[in-house]
Amino acid sequence: MASTFFLLAAFLGVFTTLISAQSSPFEMVTLIKIDYSRSELAEQYHRLDITYKTVNTTAIKTAVLVPKKLASSKKKTDAPVAVHLHGGGLIIGTNPDPVFVADWLVQLPVAENAILVSPLYRLLPEADALETLDDISSFWSWLHASLPGVIASNYPKIRPNLDQIVTVGESAGGYLAVQSALLFQDKAKIKAVIAQYPAIWPDLEAWKTLPVPDPTSETVIKAGRVIDEYLGNLTGTEVRVDAPYPDRWELTEAGLLSGRSFEFWGNETAIVQSGLGHALNVSKQWGDKLPGIWVLQGENDGMVAKAGTEEFIARLKAVHPKVEVKYTLKPGLHGFDALYGLDKPFIADGIKWTKKFWLQGKK
Ligand SMILES: *[C@@H]1O[C@H](CO)[C@@H](O)[C@H](O)[C@H]1NC(C)=O
Ligand SMILES: *[C@@H]1O[C@H](CO)[C@@H](O)[C@H](O)[C@H]1NC(C)=O
Ligand SMILES: *[C@@H]1O[C@H](CO)[C@@H](O)[C@H](O)[C@H]1NC(C)=O
Ligand SMILES: *[C@@H]1O[C@H](CO)[C@@H](O)[C@H](O)[C@H]1NC(C)=O
Repeated sequence: MASTFFLLAAFLGVFTTLISAQSSPFEMVTLIKIDYSRSELAEQYHRLDITYKTVNTTAIKTAVLVPKKLASSKKKTDAPVAVHLHGGGLIIGTNPDPVFVADWLVQLPVAENAILVSPLYRLLPEADALETLDDISSFWSWLHASLPGVIASNYPKIRPNLDQIVTVGESAGGYLAVQSALLFQDKAKIKAVIAQYPAIWPDLEAWKTLPVPDPTSETVIKAGRVIDEYLGNLTGTEVRVDAPYPDRWELTEAGLLSGRSFEFWGNETAIVQSGLGHALNVSKQWGDKLPGIWVLQGENDGMVAKAGTEEFIARLKAVHPKVEVKYTLKPGLHGFDALYGLDKPFIADGIKWTKKFWLQGKK
């Protein structure tokens, strides 16, 4: 059903389509850019791919994207930094995945003469969630230690301003953006976060209010088979870091349909330590040093529930009463903002708010 819809939409030249995974248990509907262009970023940015970490023999790289307009500037420029963490349920995606990345995010660094940095990270279920978070932590150390040198040797006129960092991510990338601020703010030094539908913490109460998949349904049985076969194939030593959509989409979908996604996150320790409760506990030591956080959520999001996002904001505020949060709730599905540019009024409004934090840093 989903694929018929997809092909039909593609055939008709429709720009976007709904990927709809049959009936419940979760109303799993998402908006995916199907007429995305892999050349869109290449037209506007120079790209470097730099290894920030090596796990056994696998290099984990980050993209460093410099707007061509900024690169051609004749005068010395201090460039703000935008870090993008890609989505894909921690199971799929690439840096950035043109299918998921919002149009306004592609435009933002160009508009602000900023450097866009987008790392890969280890994906589940080959890794567990703690290994993924460990990569994000390593990435932040790399950014502060090495980005200035990388830029200096390639673009002598540009200097990345590490006092001006915004971290942006869609879906699982939003989770990693918020986790960066809560767990790693000492090394990440983030001034602003933009979190698009980020609420995938395993310890949200909101998960309990969702309908439980019917284990006798054909869809759930088939999803379970996909998962069992995939896990059964693993030897335990695979390191997987790059999966542009639609690679592993079947597995991602199976996790959602069967309600078994958290099996991919690792053992009980990994589940607890990748949760919101743990991150909030860790974040207490940053006191008032948390960034301003702009949260976007689709009211009808069937993959990351509105209830989860609102629970996240409430629990964050309970621990950090003074944290600055802007919450934008709009009718729409998962990825509802993907096709909007910076000119969409509610996006322009959110960016304006975010810039007060992002660009406040000295120099
Ligand atoms: C498991 O491995 C077999 C044999 O290599 C392969 O045919 C199959 O597609 C794999 N299954 C999954 C779910 O990756
Ligand atoms: C790295 O390689 C060692 C030796 O082969 C293996 O035991 C370990 O599990 C590997 N680490 C990862 C993260 O795959
Ligand atoms: C859980 O997994 C981690 C690896 O992330 C490992 O270090 C730890 O020993 C495991 N704990 C248990 C209780 O199995
Ligand atoms: C967070 O801290 C509280 C108070 O110290 C503790 O009771 C709780 O178990 C901690 N939660 C996690 C997930 O570590």
